Order: sequence, then structure tokens, then C-alpha cells
Amino acid sequence: MKIFTPETINAPATLTHAVLKQWVADMATLTQPTSVYWADGSAAEYDRLCAEMVATGMFVKLNPERRPNSYLACSDPSDVARVEDRTFICSTREEDAGPTNNWQDPVQMKATLQGLFKGCMQGRTMYVIPFSMGPLGSPIAHIGVEISDSPYVVVNMKIMTRMGRGALEVLGTDGRFVPCVHSVGAPIAAGEADSRWPCNRTTKYIVHFPETREIWSYGSGYGGNALLGKKCFALRIASNMARDEGWLAEHMLILGVENPQGRKTYVAAAFPSACGKTNFAMLIPPASFNGWKITTVGDDIAWIKPGQDGRLYAINPEAGFFGVAPGTSEKTNFNAMATLKENVIFTNVALTDEGDVWWEGMTKEPPAHLIDWTGQDWTPAIARETGRKAAHPNSRFTAPARQCPSIDADWENPAGVPLSAFIFGGRRATTVPLVYEAFNWNFGVYMAATLGSETTAAAVGEQGIVRRDPFAMLPFCGYHIGDYFNHWLSIGRHVEQKPHIFCVNWFRMNAQGEFMWPGFGENMRVLKWIVGRVNGEAGATETDLGWVPRYEDIDWSGSDIGRAEFEPLTRIDTEAWHTELSQHQDWFAKLGAQLPKPLTLKHELLNIRMRGDSIAS
Ligand code: GTP
Ligand code: SPV
Ligand code: MN
Repeated sequence: MKIFTPETINAPATLTHAVLKQWVADMATLTQPTSVYWADGSAAEYDRLCAEMVATGMFVKLNPERRPNSYLACSDPSDVARVEDRTFICSTREEDAGPTNNWQDPVQMKATLQGLFKGCMQGRTMYVIPFSMGPLGSPIAHIGVEISDSPYVVVNMKIMTRMGRGALEVLGTDGRFVPCVHSVGAPIAAGEADSRWPCNRTTKYIVHFPETREIWSYGSGYGGNALLGKKCFALRIASNMARDEGWLAEHMLILGVENPQGRKTYVAAAFPSACGKTNFAMLIPPASFNGWKITTVGDDIAWIKPGQDGRLYAINPEAGFFGVAPGTSEKTNFNAMATLKENVIFTNVALTDEGDVWWEGMTKEPPAHLIDWTGQDWTPAIARETGRKAAHPNSRFTAPARQCPSIDADWENPAGVPLSAFIFGGRRATTVPLVYEAFNWNFGVYMAATLGSETTAAAVGEQGIVRRDPFAMLPFCGYHIGDYFNHWLSIGRHVEQKPHIFCVNWFRMNAQGEFMWPGFGENMRVLKWIVGRVNGEAGATETDLGWVPRYEDIDWSGSDIGRAEFEPLTRIDTEAWHTELSQHQDWFAKLGAQLPKPLTLKHELLNIRMRGDSIAS
């Protein structure tokens, strides 16, 4: 066994952070890599690592004439999405993790991890990846250091975070950082060849220690399992920091709405994974919306803090987009397609004969021939016969946010942008109307706390099953979800100028199983109403659920949706809501004593209203 010390880990000569150096040395001794490499975040390093991955077969370099400086990686079929049943919150007390998280005793879990990580990087390089979530040096940013044996992780972290030397400089001699340990869990024995996508097919652990603010991830090289700044740090660990410090770490996009007079209104929206955040964040209004413009601050995560002026301010802690590829097209998301022109890493999409990429929904007509994400020949005829998809449903692009044409001028403003509305939305074929506004903050918290959504390919498991996904945070809240609800209620008591709370559903279906709402750019009609409500300019009618737009309250310019089409989109089906409310009750029953009383009260009020009694909200 090789013993590493702070002197033998190749740390940059200028690095004076003794705690960091000792930690890296300890991790190297535990995992036994061939060498230790400190990522500096430079373009030269990025290019070199990409070239190395091309040489090992992990990356395919795309045709530079079609997609400059871009690569395709295809993963092992056992490693394609987040693994929620292998994700753990290891607080000292089980009740602090709550009923929605997998829990194990931290002492026991540490022992398990020590066993798994012992020698797990044999034959590999250990990369030390310092990164900042949020602009470098900003008072709201936080630093993490990821140790990983995957070069794929290094280059993705370069796009997704402010990674490298700058983050080390912010740390100085004794700055605090969240230690993030990652291994693909596939040591290479002497003389053995590496696989194209190393991972551990049978053993995966995504582990968080909320009290000591540590992350350990083993066995997967994919997305949120491996890019530890994203869901592990910026949501599961940060939600703990946020609770303790009085702010919010949320699974939300942030966008600005500019009206023709130049007035800007910012909103944040939480939709579960693969339910439309990236698309909504980059929306292009219909042509008839002259002078209206949407700007993008973030597409997945928001850190939200109360400002001096009594408002809530949001920043995007990320620097890139790790977005769902299938369904993305010039027609549905022009800004995303423009963002993807160059400097992109694609994962699990198909390769065209011209050396470019393709996925279902990118173009109306599929190419005549492709190599699909599993490396097999693919033609439209093969697809018809076998049902095989060219791109995996959870295939993704990693792209720099600054390349997005709609990026907001203030997207890196350390002070954040002031929020006027929160929007919550799930994927619901039935029951939930297109849009409604909560009567007040606590009602909004109730609606978000009981949000339901059909499961998607973003996580391993059965798809299309309606489950409760409170605040779109079910897989991401790093502590007891009842305490999290309480935290939101408390924010409502302390913030003077509270954003209004809205619920939306773009995914309601008709009897033929078709989406009733055109979605994408057309969502602007709903967004304009939301902004109108916030600014006191839009009308609505009171319903049992909240304020709902009448047909005449929506801007229908350039649309052929008439009253007859609008009615079923906004209909509140009382029968369906009785079932829905009993599901809310079942869900709340799981929270026991941690369920905040104001939410029980809102549930009873809603029940009474739905039964037809007239009562105040
Ligand atoms: P994560 O990155 O997993 O958090 O996903 P996301 O919430 O950013 O979802 P995204 O915008 O990538 O959309 C996921 C899928 O939903 C894509 O296939 C989109 O084409 C589809 N989608 C997005 N917006 C709409 C919409 O308004 N209507 C319909 N019908 N589909 C949509
Ligand atoms: C999600 O699943 O919500 C994502 C993708 O944004 S991942 O980074 O894999 O979590
Ligand atoms: Mn997400």
C-alpha cells in the first residue's frame, strides 16, 4: 500500500490550505490511485482531457465543421440516470432524514464507504476538482472540492461550475469547503484494459452526511450521481445550510419577463425532473407578443436569500446546463439549440453518419441511419420494428450557460435577481388545471407540499406513476420534508414582500391521450397572466383551488384556442379532486408529528370548499 502525504500529492506550489492537502492525501492513501492531478480549470487542460478520452474510446469527437469543440459519450446501459433508491441522507438521528429519504447510521455508513473506497482508484488518476457554486468570490457562493477518478467528471464540472485555480484562490489558507468524494468504483488491475464507460454495475451509493456537510458517491459516472456540485451539494447539502441560515436552496429555474415598456419581473419555477424547467427558462414568446422578452438566469437550481429591502433574491449557483436532449428542437426550444452549437458534451444521444448528434424530436424526419446510444446501427425501420430509441430518454447535453442567447444580463450578479412569483408544476394527465394562483402564502405552500407528478426517465425506476413530489424536491431535500415545509412557512412569516405562488400543468390530456395545451412558447400566455397578477394588471375568478384566469384574462393574440378549448384546460373536476385530496391526506399521514399545523388547516379548508360549503380561504 502506498502512503500519500501532503508533500506527495502534486499540490500546486502556491497552495497553503493545510486541511485540504491533508484530506487529499488521506483520500489518496485510501483509494490508491496511480497519481494525483489537481485540475486548474484551463482550456488547455479541458482539451487535453477530452483528447485523452477520445484515445480511450470514452469520447467521440464530433465533426468540427458541424459541432465545433464538442464530444459524445455513451454510458454503460446500467448507468443512465439518478439512482434514488441508492441515495442516502445519513444524519445522526433517523428522524432528521425523515420519511422521504433513505437513511443509515453515519458511523455504519462510513464503515461501509471505507470498505468500498479502499483501493477503488487503483490503476486510475485521482483528479482534485476545486469548484465554486455561484460566481467566484461572491458572498452567496460556496466552495466544494470534488475528488474523482473520472476525467468525464472533470470536463463536465468545468462547464457546470466555476472550476479550477480560481476556486482554490477563494479558499486561501483556511477557507471552508464541502468535501465531495467520487469514484466510478472500477479499479483497474495491472495489465487489465479499462472499459469505455467504467462504473460499478452492481454497487452504487450516493451518500450525504448533512451534519458534517460531506458527500460520498460510489459506482456511477452519470449526471447528478457523479457531478457532485449539482444535486448533492447545491440541493441536498445546501438545503441543510439554507434551513440553518434562513435561506432557500431549490430545484427551480429562474427567468426574467420583460414587457414592451422594459419593465422586468423575475419568477422562479419548480417542476420535477424532466418536467419542463429548461424549456420554460428559455421560452420564446409567440410572434404576436410584440416587445415581450424572456431572459434566462438558471434552468435547474436556485439559491434564494432575503434581501435588505424585504424581497427575496435568487442566484443560479451553476455555470452550465445539464439538459434533457430528447424533445429539444429549433421549434420547441430555439435558445437551447443555439446554446448547443459548440463547446458541448453530449451523453447518450445518437451519432449521425456526418459525425454530428441526433435525438428523438430534434427534427421531424429522422436521419436514414445512425449509431444509437448503445453503439448499434439504427434506422427508422429498425426503430419501427424494435421500438428501440436512438437516444436514451434521459440523454443529456452539458453546455456553458453563457452561450445561451437568452441569458440574462444579471445572471452572474452576486446580489441575485428579485423574485415576484414562485411557480410549481407537475406532469399530470388529469385533475390539475392549466394554472391557478394560491389565495395566500400558506395556501401556496400547501399546494407545493402536495404537488403530484408522473415519474420520468430522469431517475431509474418505473415511469409514468403519479407520486407526491413536494416542491419538486422529493429526491433532493436533504432533511425531514416536514421541517422543510415548516421552513417555507417561516420564510413566509419573515419576508415582507412575498412572491405570489402559482401552480401550472402543461401536461393535461384529452380522452385520446393527447396534450390539450400546446406548451413551450405558448406557455408565455400563462406567464403573462402570472406577471399580470403580480403587477395588479390581470383579472381572475375565484375557485375552490385559488384564482383562475377567465378566458378573457389571457392574451390569445395569434392563437386559435377558443373558449371551448379553454374550458377543459381550466376545469376543476370536483370528483377527481376528492380523490386527489384523499391522496394528499395519505401523503401527509406519512409525516407524523412533523407535519406543520397550518398545512393540516389548509387541507381541511380545501376539503370543505370542495364539498361545496362556502367558507373563507
Ligand atoms: P431536468 O433537467 O431533469 O430537471 O428537467 P427539466 O425540468 O429541465 O425538463 P426539460 O425542460 O428538459 O423538459 C423535459 C421534457 O419535457 C422534454 O422532452 C421536453 O420536450 C418536454 N417539455 C418541456 N416543456 C414542455 C411543454 O410545455 N409541453 C410539453 N408537452 N412538453 C414539454
Ligand atoms: C434532474 O434529474 O433533475 C436533473 C439531472 O437535473 S441530474 O443532474 O442527473 O440530477
Ligand atoms: Mn433537475
